[in-house]
Amino acid sequence: MQKRVVVTGASSGIGAATVRRFAALGWQTVAVARREDRLRALADETGAHVVVCDVTDEEQVSRLAADVAATGGATGLVNNAGGAFGADSVEHSSNDDWRAMFEVNVIGLRSVTAALLPVLREGARRAGSASILNVTSTAGLDAYPGGGGYNAAKFGAHAVSNVLRLELAGEPIRVLELAPGLVHTEEFTLNRLRGDAEAAAKPYLDVEPLRAEDVAEVLVGAFEQPPHVNQDLIVLRPVAQSSVFHVHRGPLAPRT
Ligand SMILES: NC(=O)c1ccc[n+]([C@@H]2O[C@H](COP(=O)([O-])OP(=O)(O)OC[C@H]3O[C@@H](n4cnc5c(N)ncnc54)[C@H](OP(=O)(O)O)[C@@H]3O)[C@@H](O)[C@H]2O)c1
Repeated sequence: MQKRVVVTGASSGIGAATVRRFAALGWQTVAVARREDRLRALADETGAHVVVCDVTDEEQVSRLAADVAATGGATGLVNNAGGAFGADSVEHSSNDDWRAMFEVNVIGLRSVTAALLPVLREGARRAGSASILNVTSTAGLDAYPGGGGYNAAKFGAHAVSNVLRLELAGEPIRVLELAPGLVHTEEFTLNRLRGDAEAAAKPYLDVEPLRAEDVAEVLVGAFEQPPHVNQDLIVLRPVAQSSVFHVHRGPLAPRT
C-alpha cells in the first residue's frame, strides 16, 4: 500500500506546507479544511485529494472518514486544524472564544481521530504501521498571560495525545505530538487578533521565527522514521526563542 496521509488545516500555513512536503517525498495526500478554493489550488500544485470538512462538525467528519476509506485509505493522520481566538486575560476573555478554541483544537482533533482510527487500522494491517501526529503548541506546555483559552485548549490537546498513545499501546500505530513555538504564518496571529494587521506583525519584528516549511520538514521527518521509532513529543522553536517568555530581538551573535 502506498503511504497516504490525511492533513487537516491544509488550506494555509503549516498544514499547506506539510502537504507540499509529503507530496515532494512521494506520499499521497488528503488535504482537509473548510476553504475549498485554497484546497483546490494546493491540489493543482501537489496532486492532493481534497476533502472540504469543518472538523467541528461531526457529520462532515463522518463523511471525511468515508471519503478517505473509499479513495485509498490512510496510513497517516496529521491533526493540524486549529487556532487561537483572542489574547485576553482569564478575567476579561469571552466564553464564546474559549468554546471555539476547544471545539477546533480539542474536540475536532478527537472527532477526526476517532472517525479515522478504523481507516488507519486498516492501513496498518496492509502497510504494517500507521502514524497519528497532533500539532499542539508550546502554549500547550507553558502558560502565559493572555494565553487563557488557547493555553487551556492546547494543554488539552497535549493531554489527549498522551492518552491516545496509552490507549493504542500494543497496536502498530504511533502517536506523535509536535509543539511549535513562534511560527510566522500568514493567518494565525491575524485571526487571533481579529484582523489587526499592525498588532499581528509585532511578534515577528526583529526576530527570525520558524517558517511553516521548517515545521513541515521536521513533522514529515518524524513520519519518515522507521516504524518502531516514535518521536513522541517534538518541541520546535526558533533559536531566538528560548521559552514562551524569552524571544531575543535583534541579531544573534557569539559572545566575546
Ligand atoms: N503559527 C504559530 O505560531 C503556531 C505555533 C504553535 C502551534 N500552532 C498550531 O499549528 C496549527 C496550524 O497553525 P498555522 O499557523 O498554520 O495557522 P493557520 O494558517 O491559521 O492555519 C489553520 C488551519 O486550520 C484550518 N481550520 C481552522 N478551523 C478549522 C475547522 N473548524 N475545520 C477544518 N479546518 C479548520 C484553517 O483552514 P480553513 O479556515 O480553510 O478551514 C487553516 O488551514 C494550529 O493548530 C495552531 O494552533 C501555530
